[in-house]
Amino acid sequence: MTTASTPTIALIGASGHGRRHRQNIADLGDRVRLVALGDIQDLPGETVPVYADHRRLLAEHKPDVVVICTPPHTHLPIALDAVHAGADLLLEKPPVLDLDAHARLTEALAATGRRCQVGFQALGSPTLPALAALELGPLTHIAVAGAWWRPSSYWTRAPWSGRRAADGALVNPFAHALMQALAIGAVRPPWTLELERFRSRDIEVDDTAALRLTPSSGPVVTVAVTLASTEFIAGDITVTGTRGSAHVVYPQDRLDGVVLPGRVSLLENLLSGDPLVAPLSRTLPFTALAAEIMAAPDPVPLTGVAHDDGIALPGIAGLVRTAAARHALLSEVGDLPCAN
Ligand SMILES: NC(=O)c1ccc[n+]([C@@H]2O[C@H](COP(=O)([O-])OP(=O)(O)OC[C@H]3O[C@@H](n4cnc5c(N)ncnc54)[C@H](O)[C@@H]3O)[C@@H](O)[C@H]2O)c1
Repeated sequence: MTTASTPTIALIGASGHGRRHRQNIADLGDRVRLVALGDIQDLPGETVPVYADHRRLLAEHKPDVVVICTPPHTHLPIALDAVHAGADLLLEKPPVLDLDAHARLTEALAATGRRCQVGFQALGSPTLPALAALELGPLTHIAVAGAWWRPSSYWTRAPWSGRRAADGALVNPFAHALMQALAIGAVRPPWTLELERFRSRDIEVDDTAALRLTPSSGPVVTVAVTLASTEFIAGDITVTGTRGSAHVVYPQDRLDGVVLPGRVSLLENLLSGDPLVAPLSRTLPFTALAAEIMAAPDPVPLTGVAHDDGIALPGIAGLVRTAAARHALLSEVGDLPCAN
């Protein structure tokens, strides 16, 4: 049974991935009280009040916690309004789009004493403390390989899909891989970024990409990923230190072949008052890197083959795997079928 002291919660951005948050909130049962939803779309049949204007929602309900699951370019104004209305945040990733926005939200949190958890759920993975306990020595390299298939409908799923300011294999679906690699290595700017972006579809962003990040101190991070593969690589991170190496499959909480139990829920962690597993401050390197990626030249078009309702790049998973193993860019390990 909820009581007057039960934390109240509102969800802004209630369809799309917001449905997952609805479920997470429902799973908490009486431990929270969902008081309102915010969405600019009609949400027929809801039993809680729905607001198109999130400011009205905040003014009328003053929720203790606001989950923000709107498109990335809308995050900052909604987050600032929610923090100034006295709420703690669970803010979806990417939290903000550049370092100025990161600084503005950081200042607002400091001024109000509110907390902001960012929706990088893999930062609650038990593989992170277990990896630290392996004593691999100072880390020298972190390499990420990921190969998924996304049909053409993926790139038309929302108005912001495939658009320069907010999407792309590196900054959206594989954002968790980037964040995880940066967190494992405690990598922060300044760094030198070598980046290659490719696209097999008619989109503004990369669906296949590689990067090598050489920080002024800390391990070199290489990432090779694709969304145009018929062969699946879940998201493999190889961590190499001076005394050994380890292998993490971040979406599965798998460390050296063993699935570890005990992933921390971002929402429960926020509600608990415990130190956050994914505080905004921890995501600064991700935002710095994502901003550089989004400002980079347009991706190079590739020629693929028809597959499902989209276009696949034959052999791309092999190139991704080799690039990660050699700490290399994709162009350094093979020929990509460039369209021109
Ligand atoms: N953590 C994860 O694994 C994960 C997975 C998927 C998406 N996401 C993130 O969740 C966020 C939403 O993604 P999505 O795929 O659900 O997007 P979407 O476009 O499908 O849904 C966004 C929802 O927000 C609503 N909306 C848009 N502007 C609004 C505004 N100003 N005020 C209120 N509502 C508004 C839309 O009507 C829609 O219902 C993004 O930041 C995305 O990167 C995270």
